[in-house]
Amino acid sequence: MIQNPQPTLQHQSSSRYVPIGKIDKWTRTSDGFSAKSEIAQVQITVIRAGIIRIQATRNDSFDVNPYSIVAQPQEIDFFLEEQEDSLILTTSQVQVQFDLQGGICSFFDLNGFLLNKDDSLGISWLGTEVTCYKEVQANEKFIGLGEKTGNLNRAGRAYTNWNTDYFGYGINDDPLYASIPFYIGLHGEKAYGIYFDNTHKSVFNFGASTDRFSYFNAEDGDMDYYFIHEPTVAEIISSYATLTGKMKMPPKWALGYQQCRYSYYPDSEVLALSTTFRDKKIPADVIYLDIHHMEQYKVFTFDGEKFSDPKNLISRLKEKGFRVVVILDPGIKTEAGYLPYEEGKAKGLFLKYPDGKDYVAQVWPGWCAFPDFTNPDTRSWWMEKLVFYTEAGVDGFWTDMNEPASWGQFTPNLIEFDYEGTTASHRKARNIYGMQMAKSTQEGSVLNLPNQRPFVLTRAGFAGVQRFAAVWTGDNVSTEEHMLAGVRLVNSLGLSGVPFSGYDLGGFAGEATKSLYARWMSIAAFSPLFRAHSMINSNDAEPWAFGEEVEEISRTYMKLRYNLLPTIYSKFRQSSHTGLPLAASLAIAYSNDPLIFTPAFQNQYLFCDSFLIAPVESFKEILKVYLPVGDWYYFFNDQAHSGGQVIYQDCPLNNLPVFVKAGSILALQSDVAHSSAKHDGILRIHVYAGSEGSEYLHYEDDGVSFDFESGVYHERLISYSPMN
Ligand code: NOJ
Repeated sequence: MIQNPQPTLQHQSSSRYVPIGKIDKWTRTSDGFSAKSEIAQVQITVIRAGIIRIQATRNDSFDVNPYSIVAQPQEIDFFLEEQEDSLILTTSQVQVQFDLQGGICSFFDLNGFLLNKDDSLGISWLGTEVTCYKEVQANEKFIGLGEKTGNLNRAGRAYTNWNTDYFGYGINDDPLYASIPFYIGLHGEKAYGIYFDNTHKSVFNFGASTDRFSYFNAEDGDMDYYFIHEPTVAEIISSYATLTGKMKMPPKWALGYQQCRYSYYPDSEVLALSTTFRDKKIPADVIYLDIHHMEQYKVFTFDGEKFSDPKNLISRLKEKGFRVVVILDPGIKTEAGYLPYEEGKAKGLFLKYPDGKDYVAQVWPGWCAFPDFTNPDTRSWWMEKLVFYTEAGVDGFWTDMNEPASWGQFTPNLIEFDYEGTTASHRKARNIYGMQMAKSTQEGSVLNLPNQRPFVLTRAGFAGVQRFAAVWTGDNVSTEEHMLAGVRLVNSLGLSGVPFSGYDLGGFAGEATKSLYARWMSIAAFSPLFRAHSMINSNDAEPWAFGEEVEEISRTYMKLRYNLLPTIYSKFRQSSHTGLPLAASLAIAYSNDPLIFTPAFQNQYLFCDSFLIAPVESFKEILKVYLPVGDWYYFFNDQAHSGGQVIYQDCPLNNLPVFVKAGSILALQSDVAHSSAKHDGILRIHVYAGSEGSEYLHYEDDGVSFDFESGVYHERLISYSPMN
C-alpha cells in the first residue's frame, strides 16, 4: 500500500526561497565559464560581443528551448579573470561580474556604467518556479515584451506569458494570444535587452506590488536568459533578431489592403465583394475566407453548397487581381470517416493524455483532436494536407485559435506534446504550439507552391514567430481606445522582433461608428499589416458601408498606401535584414527623450523611418503632437515645423496627423487597383529638404517568387546631400 509521504523538512522548504548560494567550484569553458554551488549549476556563455547567456539549473543538465534561438555559435574573444570574490568576464562590448558568494550578476558597459544588476536575492527557486530578481536603476523604463497591453513604459505593471484566446479583451487585460519574453531596459541614456528563453508560463514584474526589484520568472524549467547590450535600442532589437530570427520577405500582395469578415459566404457574395472594390476604384489585394467556407467547420473541406466550385471562384477572383487567404483552425473534428481525423489518429499525430488516449476538446466543429505541431511527423503531415487549398488556388493561410483555444479555455496541464521527441507537458509546450502551427503552415505553403513566397497570419506565437508568420492582435473591439491600444500593441511587437503585424481595423467585436471606421482606416494605412475584419452578426464593415464621406476618406488613405508601396516594400526588404520594425515606437529613435513616454505621446510612431504618425481618436479635431528633435513637414501641405516641441495640429477626419522627417526620401507610384497591377511606369521620388543628408535604398523584385534570393532583384541607393 502506498502511504502518503509525511512532509519532511526538505519537503516543506521546497516552497520557500532557495538561492544559488555560494559557488564552490568554477571552470573556464571555450565560450565562457561554468560554476557550481551546492544546489545549482550556472553557465555563462558569450554568444556575441554584446550578447551574454546566463543559465542556472538545479538539475544535472540544462533545459533547452529548441524552438526560438537560431543564432549559430561563433568564436568571440573574451577575457576572464578571478578577483577577490568574483569572476570578471569582459568582451569588446560588455563586462559581467559574477559574484562567487551568491551567483549575483552585474553587467557593465566598457566605461564602467552599470547597465543591469541582480538584486541580492539573485536567481532563486520556489519549488519548481525559477526567478531572477533585478535591481531597478534610477528612472529605469521598460519597453517591449511583445503583444502586451498598457503603456509604452511598462514600469509598475506585471505581465504573464501564457498564450490565451481572449475574445473582446479589455485594453489593459493580460495575457493575450502571443508571448514574447523579451524586454528592453532604459536608464541613464543606456539600454540593454533581456530575452528569457523559457517556454513555461512566465511572469515579468516591472514593479507591481513592490518597490524593491523587478523580476522575471517561470513556473518550471531553468533560468536561461540572454543579456544584450548595444549602443542603441535599434541595435538591441537587431541583436535579438539575430538570436531569434528575422522575418522573411513577404509577397508584395500581403502589403496591400486585406479584406476580412467572419465570414464572407456564399461564393456569390465573395465575388460581389471583389467587384465592388474594383467598381468603386478602391484598391485591395486580399479577400479572406473565414470558418464558413468549410463544411461543418472541418478543416480541409469546402462547404459544398456555399462554395460549390472553389477553384472557379478563386480563379475569377485572381482575374480581378485578388488573392485568397483561408483560415486554418487546429481542431480536427473527431468524426469517423473524416479523413484528416482518421489519418491523424492512425498515425498518432494528435496531442495525447499520458495514458496514450487522444486529447479531445470542443471548438467550432464540436469535439476535436489537436494535431501535435511539436511533433515533426505531424508538421510534415499538415504540410502535405495544405495541397487541398493550394490546388484550389489559395495563396495564403490564417492560423487562428492556435493558443490552442477550446471552449472552456482550460486545457489540462497533463496533456503531452512530442516536443521534438523529448515529450513535454502542456505547461512547457502551450506557448510554443501556435508558432509551430505557423511554421508547419509556412513550410506547407512552400511545399505546395514551390516558387511562391508564403503568407501566413497567426494569432498565437512565441519568441521567433516572426520567422514564420505575420501576427495580428486578435479579437479587439470597435472603440476609440482599442484603436489606440492596437497601435501600441503593434509598436510593442515591433520592439520585440516582430515587424509584420496589425490589428483588425474597424474593430472585430461591436460596431464601429462612421468616424471611428474612417480614422481607423487612416491609421491602419500606416500599419505593416493593413487588414479590416469584423465579427459575425455585426453590421457590414467594408470601406463603403459607412456612407459616402467615410468611403471617400477610406479610398484616399487606401490609395495613398498603394502610392507608397515602393517605399513600404523597400523598407520590408530592409527589415528582413535588420529585424527592425516598419512601425517603430519613438522609443527606438528617441530613446532618451522622456516626453515620448508620456501618455499623451506614447502612441506616436515612425512608419518606414520617414513618417511620424500621431494616432488620434476620431472625435478630436485638434491634437497635441510632439515632434522630436529634427525638422518635420506636415504631410498634407508641407508646412515645416522644427522638432523638439509640442504643436497643436488640426485633425479633421480626413487628415490624420502625419509628418515627414526632414531629409526623407520617399518613392511613390501612380494609383493602382492592386499591388500587381501595372502602374504608369514612373517612380516618383520625393525628397524632403533637410539640414542633414540621407540615403534610401530602393528595392524591387518580382514580388512573388524566391528568385530574389538568387540575385534577381533591382536595388538602387538614392542619396540626398543638402547644399548648406
Ligand atoms: C477567432 C478569430 O480571432 C477571429 O478573427 C475569427 O473571425 C474567428 N475566430 C472565427 O474564425
